[in-house]
Amino acid sequence: MISKTVDDSRVETVHVVRPNHLNGANRLFGGILMQWIDEVAGIVAKRHSMCNVTTASVDNLTFLHGAYQNDMVVIKGKITWVGSTSMEVCVDTYVENVDRQREWINNAHFIMVALDENDKPVQVPKLTLQTEDEHLAWERGEERRRIRNQRKKEKPDKV
Ligand SMILES: CC(C)(COP(=O)(O)OP(=O)(O)OC[C@H]1O[C@@H](n2cnc3c(N)ncnc32)[C@H](O)[C@@H]1OP(=O)(O)O)[C@@H](O)C(=O)NCCC(=O)NCCS
Repeated sequence: MISKTVDDSRVETVHVVRPNHLNGANRLFGGILMQWIDEVAGIVAKRHSMCNVTTASVDNLTFLHGAYQNDMVVIKGKITWVGSTSMEVCVDTYVENVDRQREWINNAHFIMVALDENDKPVQVPKLTLQTEDEHLAWERGEERRRIRNQRKKEKPDKV
């Protein structure tokens, strides 16, 4: 089983907020941002696993601040934890101003699952942790995994 580093799969994308991205309150529509961050998480997971991937769940999706027309939105994704067939990808979103100062506007943790040619979950490479921050992120990922497993035992509420 091969092992890859966090840097092997990092992704950074940039979008400019256009009029067609706005909601009725003239802010970036949340659904558009969710599409952009899901795409980033998918690319990170694909780079790590070298497979097709699908989004299994999203933890702690938090909108911290709004974004507005002409804002430059920078999205950064990195892998924080891997299981057997699943990967946790942390995605942070910023608005960057002309001085390249960044305001943090969104944070989310995606659980992506690697799929084989029959769309069945398949083993992913191990993660080689190289820095103290990466070890800390892994420990937090383990804790989120524990909470998710606990939550799984509860029956979801249906509308
Ligand atoms: C995600 C999916 C492939 C999991 O398939 P499954 O048959 O339940 O597979 P398993 O039970 O073997 O789980 C595979 C891995 O996914 C993880 N997983 C499954 N459901 C999960 C969930 N809701 N949240 C987090 N992780 C999940 C498991 O913990 C396991 O991880 P591990 O191998 O690292 O231990 C399947 O539920 C699916 O296809 N869901 C729809 C995904 C989709 O269409 N996404 C796009 C949204 S429109």
